[in-house]
Amino acid sequence: MPSLRRLSCLLLVFGSLQMVTPSFYDGVEELDNNLILSSVQEAKKLVDFAYKRTRDVLKERLRKRTMTPSDVMSYFKQPVATSRTHIRAADYMETTLELLNEKVQSIYSRPFNISDVLTANQIDMLHKVSGYAFLHLQKNCQQSQYRTFTGECNNRRFPNFGVSNRPYTRLLPAQYEDGRGLPQGWTEDRRINGFRLPLARAVSNQIIQFPERQQTLDKQRSLMFMQWGQWIDHDLDLAPETPARSTFLRGIDCDHSCAREPPCYPLRIPPNDPRIANRSDCIPLFRSSPAFQQGSPIREQMNVLTSYVDASQVYGSTNELASRLRNNTNQLGLMAVNKNFFDNGRPYLPFSTNGIEEDFCRQTNKTSGLPCFLAGDGRVSEQPGLTAFHTLFVREHNRIAGELRRMNPRWNGETLFQETRKILGAISQKINYKDWLPLLLGSSTSRVLPPYRAYNESVNPGASNVFSLVFRMGHTMIQPFIYRLVDNYRTSQRLPPVPLHLTFFNTWRVVREGGIDPLFRGLMANQAKLNRQNQILVDELREHLFELFKRLGLDLGAINLQRGRDHGLPGYNAWRRFCGLSQPSNVAQLAQVLRNRPLAEKFMSLYGTPNNIDIWIGAVAEPLLPNARVGELLSCLIGNQFRRTRDGDRFYYERSSEFTIAQRAAINKATMARMICDNTAISQVPRNVFRANTFPGDFVNCSQTSKLDLSPWRKRKSGSEVEDPEE
Ligand code: HEM
Ligand SMILES: *[C@@H]1O[C@H](CO)[C@@H](O)[C@H](O)[C@H]1NC(C)=O
Ligand SMILES: *[C@@H]1O[C@H](CO)[C@@H](O)[C@H](O)[C@H]1NC(C)=O
Ligand SMILES: *[C@@H]1O[C@H](CO)[C@@H](O)[C@H](O)[C@H]1NC(C)=O
Ligand SMILES: *[C@@H]1O[C@H](CO)[C@@H](O)[C@H](O)[C@H]1NC(C)=O
Ligand SMILES: *[C@@H]1O[C@H](CO)[C@@H](O)[C@H](O)[C@H]1NC(C)=O
Ligand SMILES: *[C@@H]1O[C@H](CO)[C@@H](O)[C@H](O)[C@H]1NC(C)=O
Repeated sequence: MPSLRRLSCLLLVFGSLQMVTPSFYDGVEELDNNLILSSVQEAKKLVDFAYKRTRDVLKERLRKRTMTPSDVMSYFKQPVATSRTHIRAADYMETTLELLNEKVQSIYSRPFNISDVLTANQIDMLHKVSGYAFLHLQKNCQQSQYRTFTGECNNRRFPNFGVSNRPYTRLLPAQYEDGRGLPQGWTEDRRINGFRLPLARAVSNQIIQFPERQQTLDKQRSLMFMQWGQWIDHDLDLAPETPARSTFLRGIDCDHSCAREPPCYPLRIPPNDPRIANRSDCIPLFRSSPAFQQGSPIREQMNVLTSYVDASQVYGSTNELASRLRNNTNQLGLMAVNKNFFDNGRPYLPFSTNGIEEDFCRQTNKTSGLPCFLAGDGRVSEQPGLTAFHTLFVREHNRIAGELRRMNPRWNGETLFQETRKILGAISQKINYKDWLPLLLGSSTSRVLPPYRAYNESVNPGASNVFSLVFRMGHTMIQPFIYRLVDNYRTSQRLPPVPLHLTFFNTWRVVREGGIDPLFRGLMANQAKLNRQNQILVDELREHLFELFKRLGLDLGAINLQRGRDHGLPGYNAWRRFCGLSQPSNVAQLAQVLRNRPLAEKFMSLYGTPNNIDIWIGAVAEPLLPNARVGELLSCLIGNQFRRTRDGDRFYYERSSEFTIAQRAAINKATMARMICDNTAISQVPRNVFRANTFPGDFVNCSQTSKLDLSPWRKRKSGSEVEDPEE
């Protein structure tokens, strides 16, 4: 039997690890290495089986066209092949730990801690045998003036800083029910700080829900302001779910079960739910893929993207995807575009042509039959505004590459591509740090994000786990409709506003309903939703997320809460403490922090103590700072991330070695408005696209906006002759 042969090989290899230091856990003897190795083998079989079963089921559902919203969700989080290898290895490791837990539990009847019975060497062995350690070997860094696609070697001293397919950074230690990986509240009657955690859906019903007709628009921010937030988030982080749709240990189908068994983490329904009457039903949810820090058995989550603002949502975060996204048929340095469809003569993104994935967007309109698009981030087709951004940036790449080639006919394809990529990354940083963040952080900008000084090699830019939760504050700015406007920003009966939930994964609506121009006009000439304490999240997202087919729509608000628990994130007060803010301990103090007594009372009746308030809702419920769209806790945690992402980036565009003075001056004049002028048929744009604008008063002709001046790139010689900016 091949598996036995492999096992004995492993025993030989790891025989030397048998001499281990004794475990310090009182009364529990050290685990036998053979038990560990056989558990790894068993785990591999279980995981492989769950993966295969899932593929078969999904294929069958696609064939029969019976997708569920959670199938859509799993598509939304589908990682590229390289990431899948990492996820599978992490699933092997996590499942091994669960098996060991069960086995040891059956031997020792009293409560114990699996992390305590494993020795350091055994944890190391687990990393190796699962194949996980191998994936994280550090590379030798080559000298290069360009970023790698994975982010490796950006930091030469710590080559893993900010790299894709690694665990999120933790700003505070994880809090799990069992100290290792189970979410708090997994065991429902377990008390935390003296209180049971409320059902996430109950918090959503009582605090997040509001009637749509009460929605308040933001008189000073456009829908573009919201859309940039999602765009930049998709440059920084994505926690994938395991591809498995059924439980590893018992094969339960997560989509149709309330069972809490990895990786299922369904949302239970509270009494008197406004939508779902059947309390035996659940909103399906899957745990984020596990990941591990070297030498640790504690569950982390995996970020499949680079943490730098490097336009990785355009270019990809793995070498494999990056290469697939390029036009490899010539030496023009271009990104690949769609060969079949054009937007009034301008290109669309290429389609994704991957078996199952390809068929997915098609399901949203069978007669149109258009597949999902392919981009550097897999979520590209999730809603049309996001697709419009992706399309615009690829067009801008090809436009810049064409201009550079005209000025520098001797540059080869690689130089044209990399120089253009470097410019587009720098433009992303400029727009994000100079134009967008100040409008988000308002009066707190200079405090949490002081002006750039210098690169600091000791700063870890890694996207923090808590950032990936709190930056979802952008969900509170989403309107319940997408808007399309025709020439002169007029509405048209042909292109009416569409309820958001009817637009998820609608590539057909982009291609068949006028292209990206009407979408950009809609984003520029409409206001964002304003986040107010009694108007947090629209029901399009709270009741109808991904409700394309039968069964149940998902609740993004409840998911944001449950996801924080899934990721082991501490509660509201722990983060207030981290940020040096007061920690309310009773209803009066909470009412003072929130400046809202009834809201504080609702929180207390649900959670019992402010300590337990889930981080997302605690953060978005705080009153907004002056001229900001965040409260004090969000300002701290978002500022913390963008500061590290900037100061820990060896390629940050304001660093004097990155660009010449003339080049930097050109980039500092780049705007979102001009990019729209240059790559669409839109001829009038607002001076500042992120502020609320009314047509025609706030709009100018494109000829009055300043063009991206590429002349400072003219004099450079061919790629190999460009000096290393470091020297
Ligand atoms: C129509 C617009 C949007 C939709 C439909 C949407 C939907 C979603 C969904 C379904 C998830 C995954 C939830 C989970 O399983 O935990 C998610 C995650 C997230 N969203 Fe949004 N979102 C939108 C806009 C935004 C905006 C405007 C922002 C920020 C300003 C944002 C920031 C995030 C972040 C940071 C995550 C976590 C990503 C990760 O690290 O995995 N989203 N969103
Ligand atoms: C298990 O260990 C972790 C970390 O060492 C600790 O925080 C947790 O309380 C322990 N859990 C139990 C049940 O002993
Ligand atoms: C309630 O949900 C459970 C679990 O999905 C299902 O088995 C049952 O048929 C549902 N009951 C009704 C009345 O729909
Ligand atoms: C690659 O570029 C050439 C020349 O511009 C173009 O004809 C071709 O369609 C492009 N291919 C792709 C896949 O974008
Ligand atoms: C599908 O797309 C076509 C345009 O290609 C459109 O006319 C039709 O209304 C769409 N169907 C649905 C169900 O939205
Ligand atoms: C660089 O960052 C480290 C870690 O945050 C910090 O301790 C140090 O003071 C910083 N150095 C400078 C020169 O700012
Ligand atoms: C914008 O350009 C059009 C012609 O393209 C011209 O008629 C109009 O007066 C211009 N508007 C402004 C404000 O310059």
